[in-house]
Amino acid sequence: MRWAVRIFTPWGVEWLLWKRSRKKERERVLAAQIPEAARTSNSFQLEEAIGFLVDRGLDAVQVREGSIPATSLHYLAEAVMDRLPSGRPLRALHVGNFVGVSLSYITWLVTERHPQSLVVSIDPNIPHREVEDPQSHTFALLDHFKMLSRNLIINGYTLERSDEPLTEEPFAAAAACENVLSSLRALAGASFDLILIDGNHEEKYLSKEIAEIRRLLARKGILVLDDVVDWPGVAAVFERVAADDSFVKLGDDGRVGVLQLGS
Ligand SMILES: C[S@@+](CC[C@H](N)C(=O)[O-])C[C@H]1O[C@@H](n2cnc3c(N)ncnc32)[C@H](O)[C@@H]1O
Repeated sequence: MRWAVRIFTPWGVEWLLWKRSRKKERERVLAAQIPEAARTSNSFQLEEAIGFLVDRGLDAVQVREGSIPATSLHYLAEAVMDRLPSGRPLRALHVGNFVGVSLSYITWLVTERHPQSLVVSIDPNIPHREVEDPQSHTFALLDHFKMLSRNLIINGYTLERSDEPLTEEPFAAAAACENVLSSLRALAGASFDLILIDGNHEEKYLSKEIAEIRRLLARKGILVLDDVVDWPGVAAVFERVAADDSFVKLGDDGRVGVLQLGS
């Protein structure tokens, strides 16, 4: 059943409120657990990114709730920074851009490691959380941080054209490039050092996505998934990948999960 229908049943409303309070509580506990160093140790200012987007007219709550939170992005940086290759430009792949918060962060992360690093990202630019044209804000944010020359944004779907289970209002999936992961494999092969997936959260879709993404990861490549606890479908996929012998689970903070390809 679609979100839109489910959400308006009495049980749906109760479930939503319960889920929201559980999430807030978990974020509060996690923020307290993460060492101060991990929360403040890097130079990328997420608050500046959010302030910039709000100044463009976006709703602060939608931007915050639709983006990976700062604590989890800092956790991710701590988990991967020293494991990424050094001394050469990195290649990262980012799936699911919304208005560009985690994309800017990943760009900061890999360019800190090597200034010539590149981030390829994929998003169909479908309306999300009341933002009609999310990609226009993504471009503006990357421009603000002078990151456009380190980014290559592909307007498309990782696999087949699909609707977005995270969106509360049904809509016809917009035309955008399809099966982008398979095109990327033809173009670049197993060349990505870091891949973050935060797109379609439906279990079957994500499983298929990971099978394709596995073939894009370089040796010892790192795979990051968002929502590995609160979204049952994503949690199930994350556990399956973690149990796969070819991956080592590096950890999760209750929100993002980090895995590394063994060889
Ligand atoms: C939760 S938002 C991403 C938030 C972003 N990672 C951040 O933290 O700033 C999910 C995004 O996934 C995108 N998306 C949905 N289905 C997709 C697909 N099949 N391929 C690529 N992106 C997809 C949506 O357009 C939406 O922008």
